[in-house]
Amino acid sequence: MRTIKRNILLNPGPATTTDSVKYAQVVPDICPREKEFGYIMESISTELTRLVSDLEHYTTILFGGSGTAAVESILSSVVGEGTLVIVNNGAYGQRMCDIATAFRLKFIEFSSPVDDALDVTALEKLIRDSPCSISHLAVVHNETTTGLLNDIETIGKLCRRYQIDMIVDAMSSFGAIPIHMEEMNISYLAASSNKNLQGIAGVAFVVAHKTKLESLKCQKTRNYYLNLYAQYKYFSETFQMRFTPPVQTLYALKKAIEELKQEGIKERYARYSKSWYTLINGIARFGLKHIVDKKDHSKIITSILEPDCEGYDFEQMHDYLYSRGFTIYPGKLENLNTFRIANIGNITSKDIESFLKALSDYLREIGFIPRNEPHR
Ligand SMILES: Cc1ncc(COP(=O)(O)O)c(C=O)c1O
Repeated sequence: MRTIKRNILLNPGPATTTDSVKYAQVVPDICPREKEFGYIMESISTELTRLVSDLEHYTTILFGGSGTAAVESILSSVVGEGTLVIVNNGAYGQRMCDIATAFRLKFIEFSSPVDDALDVTALEKLIRDSPCSISHLAVVHNETTTGLLNDIETIGKLCRRYQIDMIVDAMSSFGAIPIHMEEMNISYLAASSNKNLQGIAGVAFVVAHKTKLESLKCQKTRNYYLNLYAQYKYFSETFQMRFTPPVQTLYALKKAIEELKQEGIKERYARYSKSWYTLINGIARFGLKHIVDKKDHSKIITSILEPDCEGYDFEQMHDYLYSRGFTIYPGKLENLNTFRIANIGNITSKDIESFLKALSDYLREIGFIPRNEPHR
């Protein structure tokens, strides 16, 4: 097999993939309505469920779409007449608020600082004091805006105490940070094919508690394409998505799951963590700061304060690094000037070391690191 040019993607997904995952897409044409393809989707659904839960109580519903489709499917399908609490401490918490607004859901926003662990006592007070009956709570696991890791285990216990169904956007944690849905009391979880799973973009999925799904049968529908119950029912009866699936992306996802199982989730997270420590130690040597404390950090994506230096320009830094094979990502915070570096995908701490060398060359060129200073 010909080796494909390797780009080091330091954006938070789609991530750098192995050549074997890329080549898994090159298959004979097949009509996705064939049984043979149905079995492939069924095995993908089963394996995804197994990564975070058990097959007796949970199942995975696949959609063609980007990750937001999975989040939107859950929010627009499961919240009936009750009230939803949305934890908002970053752009993806805000996105859930925007989705809830678009579907005119009854919701209460619990906003919390973007760079600090959320106050679970305050969250409990909001739930306890609410005049409305809270039926659901939605939270992002790893806030990709900053790398802040929300403590879903503690929030899960809170939801258990108040009999609230917890919804978790695990887009940028799934496949790396260990999750156990039953133990953590998660009813619905959203993720996609192209981040820590190291697959190709195009598949969004929801892992859901079967009893909760069944209870949606009589719920008034607000949506059509993304209707979670309809997609679940049709798939469980036919092993087919209701509408055309992204065929080749699914072949790649099957391969990516095999590779994840070979590596192991804990081991993948250990690899990512090693890259992360290399990254944050490196930027600290250059005098750059990341905004989330180590103890609250996901070790997956890092929001870094931009260099305070006249010669600095994000686009220029991006282009400088891009031409050297590294793709970095802009920040997403309103009040702080940041850029982001993700350390996911088929990369190692060695790649991060090469990136740091290129970054230090750039910082030297703009005078942020004194030109005559020896390499740090
Ligand atoms: C936490 C989180 N939620 C949702 C999304 C949206 O995913 P997509 O851009 O694939 O729709 C992302 C993407 O980065 C994310 O990190």
